[in-house]
Amino acid sequence: MQLRSIDPAPSYNSLFIDCGDDYSPIRVLNLYSGIGGNRQLWKNVEVTSVEYDKDIAEAYSARFPQDNLVVGDAVAYLEANANNFDFIWASPPCQSHGQYRHRVGVLAKGYAPLVPDMTNLYGVITFLKTYYDGLWVVENTVPYYEPLIPPTEVLGRHLVWSNFSIGQIETSASGIRDKNKISDYDDARFVMGTHIKNKRQVLRNQVSGETGKHVLDSAMKAMNERVWIK
Ligand SMILES: C[S@@+](CC[C@H](N)C(=O)[O-])C[C@H]1O[C@@H](n2cnc3c(N)ncnc32)[C@H](O)[C@@H]1O
Repeated sequence: MQLRSIDPAPSYNSLFIDCGDDYSPIRVLNLYSGIGGNRQLWKNVEVTSVEYDKDIAEAYSARFPQDNLVVGDAVAYLEANANNFDFIWASPPCQSHGQYRHRVGVLAKGYAPLVPDMTNLYGVITFLKTYYDGLWVVENTVPYYEPLIPPTEVLGRHLVWSNFSIGQIETSASGIRDKNKISDYDDARFVMGTHIKNKRQVLRNQVSGETGKHVLDSAMKAMNERVWIK
């Protein structure tokens, strides 16, 4: 890994980050957006989100009507558009990697094991490392196997791969294990009345707003300092 400074000067203006003055906002690509847990506390950025489930996308759009929303495949969108963005967040699906399905589903209840979905996780990390010039982060669950690419950080129940440094953050406990009904979630209103099939899973999949903000703040700090890891 090497430290890389930005040359020529980037299109974003560091004053934007500190003062909110009048210039182009940071362009954020939010891949595998779900209903946007990670995006809740992002302010003063222009967000394009990609989600392939139409019902989940509709719920996202109702929650964040100001965002551009693409209903489609995150990998195809990334390949075609990566360098139109200053910062990319990707939260690929975690079910086939996570300890929960492995331990409770496969080992305890005899569910059929799944081949882990490597393309949406390690394929996306490798693409970003190799072909993308901006700042990026990929978030996933702690897997039941040793990660094929070592993560940059462990943030609570998330592994994070990134090309800038992200410090630790104190977050309130998610209490996810105690939430059995949809109404146990504070954000339940965003899925109630929608056609989303597994509402509880969509709520459970959310990254906390605090974590999303902490990661974006860390990216902005790296932009301001014009240094990140490549
Ligand atoms: C882990 S969840 C995202 C959680 C989200 N970051 C949040 O904080 O709320 C993953 C989402 O990716 C969507 N998804 C899965 N495969 C996809 C693909 N190939 N392209 C776009 N979206 C996909 C799923 O429908 C699901 O909503």
